[in-house]
This record gives sequence, C-alpha cells and structure tokens, in this order.
Amino acid sequence: MNALTIPKPEANSGEDAFHRRIHQNHMFGLWEIASQMTPHPQPQMLPWLWDWKTTESLVRESGTAVPVGEERRAMQLFNPGLSGAWATTNTLIAAVQVLLPGEVARSHRHTPAALRFILEGSGAYTAVEGERVMMEPGDLILTPSWTWHDHGNETNETVVWMDGLDVPLVKALNTMFFNMNPKQQPPLTEPINGSQRLYGHGRLSPTWIKGTTLHSPLLLYAWSQTLEALDALRDREASPFEGVALEYTHPVTGGPVLPTIGCQVQLIRKGEALQARRVTGTSIFCVVQGTGHSVISGKSFAWTRGDILALPSWALHEHACTGPQDAILFCMTDRPVIKALGFWREEAYADNGGHQKVSEEFQPGKG
Ligand SMILES: [Fe+2]
Repeated sequence: MNALTIPKPEANSGEDAFHRRIHQNHMFGLWEIASQMTPHPQPQMLPWLWDWKTTESLVRESGTAVPVGEERRAMQLFNPGLSGAWATTNTLIAAVQVLLPGEVARSHRHTPAALRFILEGSGAYTAVEGERVMMEPGDLILTPSWTWHDHGNETNETVVWMDGLDVPLVKALNTMFFNMNPKQQPPLTEPINGSQRLYGHGRLSPTWIKGTTLHSPLLLYAWSQTLEALDALRDREASPFEGVALEYTHPVTGGPVLPTIGCQVQLIRKGEALQARRVTGTSIFCVVQGTGHSVISGKSFAWTRGDILALPSWALHEHACTGPQDAILFCMTDRPVIKALGFWREEAYADNGGHQKVSEEFQPGKG
C-alpha cells in the first residue's frame, strides 16, 4: 500500500463503523499503529542518576527500618520513565543491598541472572551452589540463572553492594521462575572461592574439566586483579569513547560473563573528556572512584563515588573525568543480548569535535 493512501489514525481510529468493528474484534489496522515502527529507538526510560549521598542514607536506614526476613533488603532503583515497572532500564534492574553483621539472606534461586558489585565492607560472602564467594570492595560476583544462592555476613561491619539483574528482560520473555530453598543455607560442598582457584588465572583454564557453561564458571572477579589490569594500561592509547575499558570475560569462551548481562570496567584518566557516541542497548554505570560528569542527550549528569547512572538505548552519551584523580566506572549492559540478536549499532557524534552542547544539568531526585 502506498503511504499516501494510508488513512490518518486520528481521523479514523474508532470513528467509523468499520474501525469500531475491527477494534471490537481485537484487531487494529497497521495504518493506525504504524508510527510505532520508529526510524530509530525512542526509549521510554529516562537517563537517570541515583546519587550515593541519598542512596547511602536510605540504605543505611533500611538496616533498622526493615528486617532482612524472607526477602533480601535491597533497594530497587525504579526508572521514572518506566511507569512503575520493576526496572532501572527496559532490560536491567539495579538495586543497592545492605547486610548487617550477623545477618543471613535466605537461600533461593531464580531464572533472572544476577551480579553483585561490592561497594563497602570486607569478608561477607555470597554462597553459590555450595561455594562461598568472599566479598571485598570492587569485586564482581556472579550468581548465574537458576543457581542456589544465599548471602551471609559474619563480620563486624555492614556490607553494601549493588545488585544487577536482567529481571525486565526475563519478565518480557515470560520466563520467570523463583524458589525459596527449604534450608536457610544449604551445606557447603565446594572450597571457598573454588571457582577463582580453577578459573581465575587469565587464559589458563583446567584441562580436566570438559565443556563449559553459558555463564562464566568464574564467579569472582577480584578487584585487585581488575585494578592491576587497568593500571597496566593507564598510559596506553585507548578507546576515544570509553577510555581504558576492559570487559570481564568468560574464561573459557572469551564471551560475556552472563548470557544476558555483560560487564565492563573503564578508567577515565584525570583531565580526560571522552567523545560522544550512541549505541543500541542499555547500560547502568556505578562510579567506583573519582568525580566527573556524563552528558546524555544534552543533559549533564555530575557524578562521584557510589553514584549509579542509567543510560537508555541510542542516547548520545559521553563521559569526562573532572576531579583530581582518575575516575573508574563499573558498567553492566544488555549488550550480549543485543549482539546475539543482531541489533548492535554504534554511531560516533561527528559535530562540535565529538562533544555535545550541554543544555541542562541533571538535579538528583528531580531530573
Ligand atoms: Fe537472588
């Protein structure tokens, strides 16, 4: 059908007998909805920043206001553009979770894959399928889809971490399953940090273990190793868009750590202003150290340690380090899904030397 012959929806939708009849029979003409086939992504989610100052005070308050009980004490970051959906981006949820000294979060499993990025506290653990994975600040810990896991804190200090899960994606696919374990903590069957001993040596993997899993068999990516890798590359030329950006990889396949969530860490050097680009898929950044700002679609988001930033698909974005020390961002993204399905696109911003004009400043809590 020629575009010129398509009736305007405003003129016809529900207005005449024919349209009333098709709607009563649960049909719509493509001419009524064709505008949804947009020329480029038009996300409903908003770019948003949860500042650490506010998050930390609320999370600490949750330690006394809410018992850990059956549910984990995790503050879910709801994107204000997504109409109350359990979602930080349209595919990912981030949360900030606190575990007080002596507490245990009961064993459970779910089809959404999860990761933890440790923000504060040393020596607590997540037990995954009978293996305790010990936490230190900056560690990345995986709890892949459908693995039993519980969290415990036998130290004297409060532990705080950022959770990342693919809940909105799993909900969209109607593949949500969840179980509580009859045991609060199932027995430990593996050595402490056993996956790190097996797979935590870069490109050296055990020969006697045949095959591998969709998710990374390495459950702990220790901050000490991450920092060492970033330091080794600090003085090298790196990505003009991401700085010294390293992907956490599956030690056997070299692919992403989880089939639905990829993770990166990026070092933005003191004084460095990266160039703008847009990419398909969404990301959530957590500031590990330093201060700076990100400009997203012309709006500037100032950030400092602990802030969490949500980036929509196809939004122009650029990061800069403005503080007296290098900045480090942890990033989780749905890029493995985007790439597996053939939807990956990227486009550098060519105007104005690769930098956007800033027209607005983001106000924490307000937008
Ligand atoms: Fe969980």
